Amino acid sequence: TKNQIGVLGLSTMGKNISINFMNRGFKVAGFNRTYHVTEEMMEEGYENFQGFENLNDFIDSLEKPRKVLLMIKAGEAIDETCVQLMGMLEEGDIVMDGGNSYFKDTIRRHGYMKDKKINYLGIGISGGEKGARNGPSIMPGGNREVVEEVLPFLNAIAAKKDGEPCCTYIGPNGAGHYVKMVHNGIEYADMQLLAESYLLLKKVGHFTNSEMALVFESWNQTALKSYLVEITAKILREKDEITGLELLDFIVDRASQKGTGKWTSMETLEQDQNTSLIGAAVLARVTSNFTELKEAYGSLFDEPMTKEVNPYVFQEEVRKAYYLGKIVAYAQGFALMKDASKRYDWNLDLGKIASIFRAGCIIQADLLQVIMKSYEDNQDLENLLLDEEIIKIVRRNIQSLRVVSSLAIRGGVPSPVLTSAMTYLDQLRSRSVGANLIQAQRDFFGAHTFERIDQEGINHHEWEK
Ligand code: 6PG
Repeated sequence: TKNQIGVLGLSTMGKNISINFMNRGFKVAGFNRTYHVTEEMMEEGYENFQGFENLNDFIDSLEKPRKVLLMIKAGEAIDETCVQLMGMLEEGDIVMDGGNSYFKDTIRRHGYMKDKKINYLGIGISGGEKGARNGPSIMPGGNREVVEEVLPFLNAIAAKKDGEPCCTYIGPNGAGHYVKMVHNGIEYADMQLLAESYLLLKKVGHFTNSEMALVFESWNQTALKSYLVEITAKILREKDEITGLELLDFIVDRASQKGTGKWTSMETLEQDQNTSLIGAAVLARVTSNFTELKEAYGSLFDEPMTKEVNPYVFQEEVRKAYYLGKIVAYAQGFALMKDASKRYDWNLDLGKIASIFRAGCIIQADLLQVIMKSYEDNQDLENLLLDEEIIKIVRRNIQSLRVVSSLAIRGGVPSPVLTSAMTYLDQLRSRSVGANLIQAQRDFFGAHTFERIDQEGINHHEWEK
């Protein structure tokens, strides 16, 4: 009998997705460019797994219409593989890209595969290694009918929340990868918010790592419960195998990135939207790599003196500030998706998207339940920050965000994302953001005109008579 699905690319994510398919009873064909990876997997002796050295044999082993899931690195390798597959696949076969591809590449590939009558889906998959194996959150984009053909496969391996699979049709062509991109952008912001909370607790509150682990564990018992908070507590407790001390303190203070956060920020600028928290998080990772400059600058200036704080009160203030930071990060990310939905005519269902983020993915959090409900109650909600429930949360926590932001600045604890959250809320709240002066300057030097508050129409003033 033929294999039901082919997984192309068997490194960590591909291998674990394959095992997930097998655990759900599917017969899986596997192919990897370097054959020994396939061999290693074959040696593990999975009953429903057949590995291939030859790509043609791999394709021939599949039931029609063939379903091939690419689990390879985003970038040129995808195009190379697509070109190879075009020569082997037949009309109606389905190629799915399960990696973190840039959504505009997915739109392009969808186009050229369509010319060959091969169906192409861009599928966002989140959840890391464990998620891939036990149940990720899945964001398929492409033609609806084609997605429906593969949904039984995807639903079977997806995480479940309240019995429902964390997988839903997202929208045409690049929509699935777009939503995954924004998911990752929010992930960047949330990770940085936690890093800032950690740094504040450490530098201003003088908490030890194990005390902080307790703090994050206690946050995880509140409305802030989330996967990222949970792993942060675990990280703070972890011991180093070499020294027996806490591992976190031995990790170099430089963060890497593979591009999804940057793409989110680029797309934000392109769309005239504001995801300042995601942008600040991307730049924080970039700046963390300015090793020599940081070294030079660090020896020029002393650390500012921090004010004594009551640790118990302070950790609660930080919790509230983080809560609000997180809300602003999600609100900005969802507003970006809302705009993209209009711009690309994708008809994104934001409530459904929030619902499939509730389990399996990296940004899974109890907060998503609130977000889901906001959109369910009001499909046309322009911005999450205008939802009644969210307004209540903002009212309860804004003062803490203000206090913590100012303590961060006074204490010299770099907190670009927390302070961006504060700034963004102030930009929205404050009736005056100084843009009147900007318009006046523009009109002054370039006759770019301005509008008046008391009259309709476009004005220009002779500033220097
Ligand atoms: C996920 C993660 C996953 C991965 C990214 C993060 O949803 O499972 O987002 O896609 O961790 O590669 O990328 P960076 O390397 O850019 O942090």
